[in-house]
Amino acid sequence: MKGTSDRPDGQDTGNGQPDEGSFAPDASFRTRAVHAGRAGGPVRPVSVPIVQTTAYAYADAGIAEAVAMTGQPMYARDGMPNVLALEGAVAELEGAADAHAVASGMAAISLTLLALLSAGDHVVLNAGGYQDTVSLLHEHLTRFGIDVTIAASNDPDAVAAAMTPATRLVLAETISNPGMVLTDVPGIATVVHRAGARLVVDNTFATPALCRPLGHGADLVIHSAGKFLGGHHDATGGVVAGPAPLIDAIRRAGFLFGPILSPLDAWLILRGIRTLAPRITWMSASAARIAGALADHPAVRAVRYPGLPDPDRPSLAGAMLPRGAGALLAFDLAGGTEAAVAFTRHLRTIPYVASVGGTETTVSFPPQPPTQGPGEIVRDHRCATLRMSVGLEDPADLIADIAQALDRLDPLAPSTRHGPTAANGRPHETS
Ligand SMILES: Cc1ncc(COP(=O)(O)O)c(C=O)c1O
Repeated sequence: MKGTSDRPDGQDTGNGQPDEGSFAPDASFRTRAVHAGRAGGPVRPVSVPIVQTTAYAYADAGIAEAVAMTGQPMYARDGMPNVLALEGAVAELEGAADAHAVASGMAAISLTLLALLSAGDHVVLNAGGYQDTVSLLHEHLTRFGIDVTIAASNDPDAVAAAMTPATRLVLAETISNPGMVLTDVPGIATVVHRAGARLVVDNTFATPALCRPLGHGADLVIHSAGKFLGGHHDATGGVVAGPAPLIDAIRRAGFLFGPILSPLDAWLILRGIRTLAPRITWMSASAARIAGALADHPAVRAVRYPGLPDPDRPSLAGAMLPRGAGALLAFDLAGGTEAAVAFTRHLRTIPYVASVGGTETTVSFPPQPPTQGPGEIVRDHRCATLRMSVGLEDPADLIADIAQALDRLDPLAPSTRHGPTAANGRPHETS
């Protein structure tokens, strides 16, 4: 394929040669995901090699200086070839000018906030969202004089009401974890921009295969990249994508704070991206079927899935998620916490896993706010609600397993078994 760089800003993708091949900008997402971020040049390795080095060696200082002038990486924190290739791929797929990849989703969120906010600023955060993001803001950013207010992100009026003259940034998840609430990105973008603030969207649960928030008016998009982008339960990483000036500022903060992504994790995540389109299509279709099966079972009190009709916002899912509603769902069991614990024990093939987004279907209690015990922070996640991350298995097999586990629940005889515990006897933390 001939054309311009895969990287929208035309930069080298990291193999030392400018990329000379890419598909037309109107190629389908599925096609672009297979090729985004790949190396250019007349001869290229089909798979970007893992460049496991901390620095480059130069024959003399003059060569080093000349190479530095071209912007090529010299040292690990500059972003090594596998990291640059991943950044190019995510930028292309999210429709961004540039991206910065780091060690985890939390690193991407923290860097973005640290790079763009100052003492005295105020942040609005989506309700029902990822607990560690809430804790990061409450436990740490408040120490630096940054205030936070939580608001319903499916309601632009609620976000507008939560904003103050000091609001610089609104952070919302496309689909909240674990609330499964769909954010009204276009509606909130209008409100946020009218106030001169920025909208940052955590797109971990939707992925660019289902929703590209920048196209709906967001200023930056963030991923916990080991989830659906990597997709195989074997890598940890984070990415933030957006316009070049914002990414330059975040990259500079990343260089100084230092949460770098390893070459192997970058390679694994990029390899996962190659199959993102078919994976998320299958998973979304299966999740929709499972949501229906759960909703029909008498042992289930409520199901939350962005693809189920929302009487309050009937057209939002169609506008935001026209290609599928994702692989995550949450449900409440009529028998309460003990029934939820028993359900995880009755499942034959679906394990309890404190993460989401991989090939295997998994179930867990959703992340909960930590509570202060005697001298330590206690995390007890057990509750009536379970979160399921649907994988690549045949949905008929999954539904059969779920149905037999639900059928065995007897709300009149709740299990006395305690929740899944770690080797140290504490409940597992979940993400
Ligand atoms: C929506 C969302 N954002 C951010 C994160 C944090 O990502 P990481 O665990 O890679 O730091 C998670 C983790 O589960 C998540 O679900």
